[in-house]
Amino acid sequence: MQSGAVGYHRKHHVGFLLIGYPPVNVLGAAVRTGLAQALQVALADDAVQAIVIACAGRTFSAGADITEFDAPMSEPTLQEVFAAIEAANKPVVAAMHGTALGGGLELALACHYRVAAKDAKLGLPEITLGVIPGAGGTQRLPRIIGALAAFDMIVGGTPVDATTARHLALVDALIEGDLLQGAQQFCEQLIERGAGPRPTRDRSVDVTGFNPPGVAAVLEKHARALKGRSTQQLIIEAVSAAAQPNFDAGLVMERRLADYSLTTTESRALRHLFFAERQASRVPGLPADAPKTPIKHVAIIGAGTMGSGIATACADAGVAVTLIDSTAEALERGFSLIASNYDSSVSRGRMTAEEAARRRARITDSLDLKSAANADVVIEAVFEDLALKQRILAQVAALTPASTLISSNTSTLSIAALASVCRDPQRVVGLHFFSPAHVMRLLEIVRTSATDAASLNQALAVAKLLRKIGVVAGDAFGFIGNKMMLDGYWREAELLMLEGATPEQVDSAMESFGFAMGPARVNDLGGTDVGTKTRIELFKRESRPDPYFVIADALTAQNRLGQKTNAGFYRYEPGNRKALPDEAVTNLIEKLAADRGIKRRRIEPAEIVERCMLQLINVGAQVLDAGIALRAADIDVVWVQGYGFPRHVGGPMFYADTLGLAHVRQRIEYYRLRLGDDYWTPAALIERLARQGESFAQWESERKDAT
Ligand code: COA
Repeated sequence: MQSGAVGYHRKHHVGFLLIGYPPVNVLGAAVRTGLAQALQVALADDAVQAIVIACAGRTFSAGADITEFDAPMSEPTLQEVFAAIEAANKPVVAAMHGTALGGGLELALACHYRVAAKDAKLGLPEITLGVIPGAGGTQRLPRIIGALAAFDMIVGGTPVDATTARHLALVDALIEGDLLQGAQQFCEQLIERGAGPRPTRDRSVDVTGFNPPGVAAVLEKHARALKGRSTQQLIIEAVSAAAQPNFDAGLVMERRLADYSLTTTESRALRHLFFAERQASRVPGLPADAPKTPIKHVAIIGAGTMGSGIATACADAGVAVTLIDSTAEALERGFSLIASNYDSSVSRGRMTAEEAARRRARITDSLDLKSAANADVVIEAVFEDLALKQRILAQVAALTPASTLISSNTSTLSIAALASVCRDPQRVVGLHFFSPAHVMRLLEIVRTSATDAASLNQALAVAKLLRKIGVVAGDAFGFIGNKMMLDGYWREAELLMLEGATPEQVDSAMESFGFAMGPARVNDLGGTDVGTKTRIELFKRESRPDPYFVIADALTAQNRLGQKTNAGFYRYEPGNRKALPDEAVTNLIEKLAADRGIKRRRIEPAEIVERCMLQLINVGAQVLDAGIALRAADIDVVWVQGYGFPRHVGGPMFYADTLGLAHVRQRIEYYRLRLGDDYWTPAALIERLARQGESFAQWESERKDAT
């Protein structure tokens, strides 16, 4: 029998309910209905003595359908279907493979027994979406693995592997080989033993350690991920309800808390990013069938920090890498950086020493640019010098076939200027990696007006291969992220310092807002000279009114380059990364302000945050209006993945929508009046949308409908 999304068949005494709802078997309305019907068929079939619930395709269920979250769930609800499964008078066994997540795992928890393939992963990742499990997860999981372990798993959100799940008694057996066959054998053993249904709801909860100190220790363990978040409080309440004997009352409490969690801004922001990250690689108008060359060999030119990080990322993805530089010393340094990348992965337990050695062996070195001749993709990662990059790319274009993708890892130079010296500029793109390149998931893919569809498709394939989120950007100064950072956020941070805020006040305000690190500390980490070099190149193309990064440039002039010289916006004790306030910097800033007649005053943290965010939003709107970013959501992905923007705030454009664009415009106007500066002019797009009472999200969906 096949009832839409759920099939049913019987083998000997076992009835199989097989969910087949690609790509990831989410528990949408069709699956819920199918499950409820197939269960009835199995229960009515006298020949059936045990029931297996499994999924077809690459994974067990990925949970409730997130797209259904904004409306009440249609009947039968997950709770109803799970209650029916739990109440079945024949033993029901969940057979899991791939990832059993969220509602998927809750389905398994409602079954009487659980078996899993050895490589399966099981988790309740709802907290990553700012919601709590709402289909019994917070009530049934504690009954199976104990309240404290369940709390840890739900608050952490990270799936556990099958072996750990077995250890926790979350699964009753691990299956090697064919899962359905293994599940059948498991059922036959149950039948033989006369083991009947084992409803989770009837089990008692082990509350050992689930007390204030135990809860605090778990929260501390996940403190980094929980910074600025509130969902964990709801989880504490829900698991506490599970510790009470009345299961149904616990379910009611869970339902209320779960419904509430769906209404928080945190949850809306996190769900927005879930879809934004998956949509980013879709480029309107790009034919998906554009020819693609399989990527087997990548040549990277420049063995500096970026080049070595990119080489590591490529080796991790399983491709052959040639790392090219002009001197043996540079290559040696690059290889020692790669070695330390792998050493740190091994010491953190991310891979075995053998696996690290296998990956390192994929990287070979070369002093000869001609070694790039056979590469499918060439990534130039030498330092930010237009003439040098042009010379290299022109040579690469001359010695590679037309099928090779040529790219530059520049963060601010014009890709068109780089492409102009190549014999076929249509195969040149920017691939802007973020440091450390083997860790950071963002990849800005910069196309010029000459870039052809095949090359853009190939660049997107590079992102996919490296398991990065590729966001397509237009070829303007700073692309999406650096443009907004330099002309919006950091410029404002510097102006605030000139007007009276100290670097530590600016950093602390932005870190309280949720940024991983404030702008002055980021500057010191990356090197103030990096920005200064960028501006030298920028001023060859465009001008900016003074004051524009006068503090950072003065620090560079004094060789205060940041952590690497033990002095930048802060001072550092040798060998220590702790940023210490420095009077010399205060004096320098005071002088720069006095030179410009800027009267210094005390500035409150709220003003710091508001001005930095308004500028970030305003420049973001310009970037969007100019088509440099394809969507507001892409900007959010760039900022969250590349610049430490707090994920639970959803990104700058989402944040603007939560403030309301009329409010954003009004506050920008306010600062224009107060500061008397045209730099505080609302972007045309904000003007337009504020007047129409629209948000970026509404504007976006109208544009989508129109195409
Ligand atoms: N609800 C709705 N859509 C979902 C979904 C869910 N729970 N889980 C995945 N999808 C969609 C994705 O949006 C994507 O759609 P698209 O192809 O239109 O972009 C598609 O299913 C495939 O997902 P993707 O993440 O690209 O596949 P993957 O193989 O890389 O990862 C998972 C698979 C299951 C690990 C991953 O999708 C995931 O983590 N899903 C969310 C699980 C979750 O949080 N469940 C709890 C919900 S309360």
